[in-house]
Amino acid sequence: MSLQVRLRPYAPADTAPLLDLWTAGWALVLPSVDFAARRPWMEARLQEHLAEGAAIVVAVDPQDRPSGFVVVNPGTGYLDQIAVAPEARGSGLARLLLDHAKAISPTGLSLHVNVDNPRAVRFYEREDFRRVGEGTNPRSGLPIYHYRWR
Ligand SMILES: CC(C)(COP(=O)(O)OP(=O)(O)OC[C@H]1O[C@@H](n2cnc3c(N)ncnc32)[C@H](O)[C@@H]1OP(=O)(O)O)[C@@H](O)C(=O)NCCC(=O)NCCS
Repeated sequence: MSLQVRLRPYAPADTAPLLDLWTAGWALVLPSVDFAARRPWMEARLQEHLAEGAAIVVAVDPQDRPSGFVVVNPGTGYLDQIAVAPEARGSGLARLLLDHAKAISPTGLSLHVNVDNPRAVRFYEREDFRRVGEGTNPRSGLPIYHYRWR
């Protein structure tokens, strides 16, 4: 299947569509959490990531509409966010974004994932990440796994 997408750096006009797809994507993962209420927090986090030197890479369709994004800091190898629009799940777009993150952080990546996010856990394990620890998200109090690639 060929994806009609290209990857490009984040631009300020992406903020609302990225928050839309982030909210919709996460609502499927943890329906009990009000992600719409977390939009201001996430909007601020995106700016913090940029200030910290992270790359926000956006997947867009031929009309330049975002359908997914990844946030990765090539300096630390930390992947803080990856999300695709609900309709893009299972399309290969998430792998495309993750492959890009690997390419800009070739010495390795690390990330945390909610234990109660089996789709993401399966996705990372399929893409050659290995579990290296577990703990608790200090903000949500939810159990998390720590994964590494390389
Ligand atoms: C995580 C995310 C980026 C993965 O992208 P995706 O397109 O859904 O991933 P894929 O469909 O390529 O892979 C998912 C895998 O999990 C499997 N899967 C789906 N539902 C599952 C479930 N409930 N339990 C276990 N595995 C599941 C799929 O079958 C597939 O595995 P396979 O290729 O072996 O068949 C996407 O689901 C997303 O945006 N989620 C919301 C945000 C999020 O959770 N981000 C990650 C936070 S760490």
